[in-house]
Amino acid sequence: MADSKSSAPEPTHVHPALPLFGGELSKWEAVKARDTLIYQMGYGNEFATEAVKDALPKLGNTPLRAPHGLYAEQVSGTSFTTPRVHNRKVWMYKVRPSAAHAPMRPYTKNPRFFNDFNDSTSEINPNQLRWKPFPIPSADEAVVDFIDGVMTLGGAGCPAAKAGCAVHIYTCNASMAETRRAFCNSDGDLLIVPQQTPLLLRTELGKLRVAPGEFVVVPRGIKFAVDLEDAETGACPARAPARGYICEVYDSHFVIPDLGPIGANGLANPRHFAAPVAAFEDVEYPAPAADATEADASAFHLVQKFVGKLFAAPLQSSPFDVVAWTGNYTPFKYDLAAFNTVNSVSYDHLDPSIFTVLTAQTTSPGVAACDFVVFPPRFAVQDNTFRPPYYHRNCMTEFMGNIQGQYDAKPEGFVPGSASLHSCMMGHGPDADTYAKFSNEKTAPQGPVLMNKNDLAFMFESTYIFKLSKWANAPESQQTEYYRCWAGLKSEYEAESK
Ligand code: FE2
Repeated sequence: MADSKSSAPEPTHVHPALPLFGGELSKWEAVKARDTLIYQMGYGNEFATEAVKDALPKLGNTPLRAPHGLYAEQVSGTSFTTPRVHNRKVWMYKVRPSAAHAPMRPYTKNPRFFNDFNDSTSEINPNQLRWKPFPIPSADEAVVDFIDGVMTLGGAGCPAAKAGCAVHIYTCNASMAETRRAFCNSDGDLLIVPQQTPLLLRTELGKLRVAPGEFVVVPRGIKFAVDLEDAETGACPARAPARGYICEVYDSHFVIPDLGPIGANGLANPRHFAAPVAAFEDVEYPAPAADATEADASAFHLVQKFVGKLFAAPLQSSPFDVVAWTGNYTPFKYDLAAFNTVNSVSYDHLDPSIFTVLTAQTTSPGVAACDFVVFPPRFAVQDNTFRPPYYHRNCMTEFMGNIQGQYDAKPEGFVPGSASLHSCMMGHGPDADTYAKFSNEKTAPQGPVLMNKNDLAFMFESTYIFKLSKWANAPESQQTEYYRCWAGLKSEYEAESK
């Protein structure tokens, strides 16, 4: 790709100093430090970027002829009439318009990637669930790229009605540069959380490098490809064992939450969100044979998810041919180390909504299709307080993943690359050993304690009640003894208060 040179800012060192991250989390700093890509900083800004000088029209969006003979193409992320404060759109100036492609046909290589949760695709399970670390396909077994490596874990709703949420896992070993494909999701935003192996996303709007400890959002309809980076050597594209989590929302877009009484500052700072600069390639591919299939490695395919099913079409030119663009509908990434954590400094364990990084709202105020919540390194200082999460039942569904280390309420079992699910109104909370330690004044930490220095877990919290894909509901995928972690919780009731 030709990178933006003319109007771009200086190379951006995106990630800030990391006073709290330690252990395995700090190893990704070397990966982030060698990211020499240029970014445009700021959440939701109205950006303008061109990889070739004067490729953006000077005044309007649709001149008689766009500069350099480019095609003007708008991608509307919200309806035309959405109020200006929420309106999202981008004008692209492309070598070829994206309408030019062969008909799409059903793509059958990965039936485990879907998001229309009905009785034929999904099952229900009310129990507290925890999965084993999701296995990564061996490079000796098969070449698996991001598209074929997605496994839908569960979700709810229907993308046709633009209401619902899905959680997917990806495990893969090959770059899409190798498999010659690009992906586009018609059904909603994708929030991608790498857990193992850094990613290079080539998108229509430019490139983003995303290491574990960071995440990236690709909004509905923006085409992209996922390449893998060798964490040790930096080689990219590479064959590497990659794993991560994806949340997909159909209702709305992921946005930074309002802060209410917290004030004008705190949580995720808008200045730390990074959008790409224009980068393009002008590449033509040979016309596919009349009988070419989706598996034809000689053709370049665009795979598109549309109302829960995958389709593919061979392309005769690169979809990454946007020479310049302007707008506020962009992929963006964020380094979780930059999160400005807010918490109680007097007493009590507060609700985890204080750790919300992004939210995608339903039409009901304050009710999220998905809140993305992180449990970062932080100081705990509460006095006379049971500091781990409290026992509770929630009208929301809680899916948790672990990027690195231990989660404070579950030191055992909830290992990196695994996941748990606590569904609507199903009781959960700390395991018996954690309760015993943190409720005993002799063993409970007192005073300021730096916690989770080496750990990074997160939660997708949704108002929707998830159904599970069949593989996710299969006992062989799960830690079926999970429920026993609460078995040691005995009555400590005493009729006479001490
Ligand atoms: Fe919970």
